[in-house]
Amino acid sequence: TTTADSSLKQLPFPFGAAISAELLRTDPRYKALIIREFKSISTENAMKFGIIHPLENTYNWTDGDEIVAFAQANCIRVHGHTLNWYQDAPDWLKNFDGDKNAWENLLKTHIQTIVKHYKGKVTSWDVVNEAFEDDGRYRNSIWVQKLGTDYIARAFQYAHEADPVALLFYNDYGQEYGYEYKGLKRNAILALVNELKSRGVPINGIGLQMHTKYTQSDFDISLAISTAAETGLKVHISELDVALNPNFDATLTFSPSLDEMQASKYKAIVKLYNAIPKAQQFGITTWNVTDKDSWVPVFFKRPDWPLPFNADYHRKAAYRGIFDGL
Ligand code: XIL
Repeated sequence: TTTADSSLKQLPFPFGAAISAELLRTDPRYKALIIREFKSISTENAMKFGIIHPLENTYNWTDGDEIVAFAQANCIRVHGHTLNWYQDAPDWLKNFDGDKNAWENLLKTHIQTIVKHYKGKVTSWDVVNEAFEDDGRYRNSIWVQKLGTDYIARAFQYAHEADPVALLFYNDYGQEYGYEYKGLKRNAILALVNELKSRGVPINGIGLQMHTKYTQSDFDISLAISTAAETGLKVHISELDVALNPNFDATLTFSPSLDEMQASKYKAIVKLYNAIPKAQQFGITTWNVTDKDSWVPVFFKRPDWPLPFNADYHRKAAYRGIFDGL
């Protein structure tokens, strides 16, 4: 059980959240909660292409540097998100007119400028995010169109050259998607990761985003975690949230029974994660901090309460559920 003195820092693996530079600046309660509870943070948006590299010859370090300075001052680990994603392309990138060499150079320069800037300060990176469709095919992203799918291997290589000790992850969602997806996405990701490993490409881990829901089966979650661990790489549950309104009910309200069912799911996830070998436990990161700053209600346009802290910054049943999973 938990007491007023509990902290998620007491867990046997790093627990953290994705955080916003804006809220860190403007909301002292948000900041205090992060300092009290987390050993690790991910940059929610601060290091995405459109924010950090808004013009071809301009990098904007403001948000990223603020988050990193805050983390260093409070002994919190920083996981950088993300060096490559099919989304979030600024206009200059969408309109970039160059041959294959120019695109390759752009990929390399973008990755190495950022990784070098944060060398020694950012422990680990999501190098490539969401390269696959839900049916396991490669997304037809601008990077695949310009460079072919093997740009993924080179992205890892470029990041490794810029900071040889940073831990490098492939990150994606839906690896716990159940029988309706026939495991196609999970299998594609595992095949990619195993291929990269066998070719000696510097990859250290798999990120399971795990934007999940209280009705998701433990069996599917278990399969995602155990198959990722079987690769021998580190496993990061990298963007955890447990939705309570997956059916988009516009009138749904939060209730004690939903609170408890959510706690059970957090508990199950921690239990399954804690069962993989210690050396492979990179940590668990929730996507955002409280139900107030969660991306879920905004992005999916529905009421929802997916996180262990409520809009008043108080611990929900899910908080206790996390400890119950040990
Ligand atoms: C989301 C952010 O939380 C939002 O603020 C932003 O508007 C869109 O992106 N998978 C990811 C994250 O890898 O980068 C996404 O973050 C959520 C889904």
